[in-house]
Amino acid sequence: MSTLQGRIAVVTGASAGIGLATAEHLFKLGAGVVINARRADKLAAVARQIDPSGKRVIPVAGDAGSSEAIAAMLAAARTSLGGVADLVVVNAGRGLKGSVTDSDQSQWEEMIRTNVLGAAKLMREAGLGMAAAATAQGGAWVSSPRDLVVIGSVVGRHVSPFSSMYGGTKFAVSGMVEGVRRELGPKGVRVTLVEPGFVTSEFQGVAGYDPAWYQGVVDRIGPVLMPEDVARVIGVVAQQPAHVHLSNVLVRPTRQDYP
Ligand SMILES: NC(=O)c1ccc[n+]([C@@H]2O[C@H](COP(=O)([O-])OP(=O)(O)OC[C@H]3O[C@@H](n4cnc5c(N)ncnc54)[C@H](OP(=O)(O)O)[C@@H]3O)[C@@H](O)[C@H]2O)c1
Repeated sequence: MSTLQGRIAVVTGASAGIGLATAEHLFKLGAGVVINARRADKLAAVARQIDPSGKRVIPVAGDAGSSEAIAAMLAAARTSLGGVADLVVVNAGRGLKGSVTDSDQSQWEEMIRTNVLGAAKLMREAGLGMAAAATAQGGAWVSSPRDLVVIGSVVGRHVSPFSSMYGGTKFAVSGMVEGVRRELGPKGVRVTLVEPGFVTSEFQGVAGYDPAWYQGVVDRIGPVLMPEDVARVIGVVAQQPAHVHLSNVLVRPTRQDYP
């Protein structure tokens, strides 16, 4: 398998968890990386930690649900890393404890805006950019991989009794990804859905899980995944030769029985 030398990556939600680990992993494999999240100070510290030179990991703070922030990320890829982003990881997202009938409704709009609308906007802008770049190269895509990797969830495939409102957003993501894959695959863009099971990160706190409940899950099915485990999977997807597409990857802790 190749390294990612010369690839231009964008990773949203990179101030913590899966996004941070992915940015670090892609950088170590040779990619330049634009990183995004809302907490500007934390994002800047992550950029410095991964690449002390400040040249190949570029922080662009902002809300991944906003069109302006998305435009700024893609522009930073061009101006600071020298080209159209060709490895975009649509990762920013959040969970929410509970179902449609018992989750905290005051958090629905933010979650849907980030998980569904933000993902759709970035898939659209980055995907069209990659397809245009492939066309401009006159079909050279066979030797130039281009990737849109979207983070769904196992609860976007199997209805979870403890987080079905969040799961609904990931069902939406799953449907959109397959639609975009059908549109852009023939143009040389690999559109990939990565669906993790339990990953220990800031996710559980943000979602409002009871720590004792989550510890019970870890005690029962652990070791659960760490962000680095998902990052490695994304690296494997991106390093395939351009004509090979691992389009759907469901990655669970080995002992996770359900969902
Ligand atoms: N952990 C799991 O068990 C699990 C399982 C399946 C799927 N996932 C999915 O994996 C993705 C990453 O989750 P994680 O586990 O790494 O969670 P995490 O540790 O909470 O990290 C989430 C990241 O997204 C950023 N973020 C949240 N809302 C944002 C917004 N509106 N705009 C920009 N950045 C935003 C956060 O940074 P700021 O707060 O600084 O913005 C943070 O960097 C999510 O899509 C999640 O749904 C997680």
